[in-house]
Amino acid sequence: MNKEHKAKEFFDKTSLYLESDYGIIIRKETINSSLNTDQFETALDIGCGDGSISISLLDNIRALTLLDISSNMLDIAKDSLTPEQKTKVTFINDSIDSNCIEDTQFELTISLGLLSHVNDPEKTFHRIASLVSKNGILVIQNTDSGHWYYKLISAYLRLSRFLRKDKYQYSFNKTTEFQLLTWFKKANLEVLSSFHYNQSFIGIGSLLSNGLKYSIIRNIFGSIDSPRNQRLGSDGIYFLKRKE
Ligand SMILES: C[S@@+](CC[C@H](N)C(=O)[O-])C[C@H]1O[C@@H](n2cnc3c(N)ncnc32)[C@H](O)[C@@H]1O
Repeated sequence: MNKEHKAKEFFDKTSLYLESDYGIIIRKETINSSLNTDQFETALDIGCGDGSISISLLDNIRALTLLDISSNMLDIAKDSLTPEQKTKVTFINDSIDSNCIEDTQFELTISLGLLSHVNDPEKTFHRIASLVSKNGILVIQNTDSGHWYYKLISAYLRLSRFLRKDKYQYSFNKTTEFQLLTWFKKANLEVLSSFHYNQSFIGIGSLLSNGLKYSIIRNIFGSIDSPRNQRLGSDGIYFLKRKE
């Protein structure tokens, strides 16, 4: 089974991911702080999960496409919409790597938490970048595999996999921030802003409530409007603009 199939199998058990909602709330607030005064004709959320992040911007978007390999995740997204909101949303249940979207570009493209789970992150990144229109905005997340905190998380995950305690039964892709910045350049994408933090609590996560984890992250790293300790954060959310 390749990584794409393993990811589908994992995310189809939706609660395994959605129970850690503090991470989703931080991503949602980061996006809203940066984009809530902008208006977009078209938007695409790749690996949208329950869709709550891009749906929270729906008042500013005329047509939103939600794409996810997990049909169960998309069902949750569908169920969360009012009948009026549904008229603005298209759902695609497929892999981003299957070329399911052709000859279309979007004013806003969002992809959070995806690159760790695909077969070839560089190939998928360039596929995502090709969907961003000229002057369009891309919001993308990556965990920097060159960062000391990531190395700690990796060692912990290897140990829990060995002890069969890890909920993910496959290893995540490794992409350094340096590699990512090189890919941005190659794709003619300019970094407008970014926010760095650590989402993983390495082993003690299950002892802390989601609310407490949220407060710890905010206390250490602040927010995108008022960031702190950015060099300590291995998770990065980047806001990019496609240059002409
Ligand atoms: C970590 S979750 C992130 C969900 C959401 N973007 C968020 O930030 O909360 C990753 C999502 O990507 C989806 N996914 C994984 N591989 C995919 C692929 N090749 N194509 C499309 N979606 C994929 C999963 O089903 C899952 O919903």
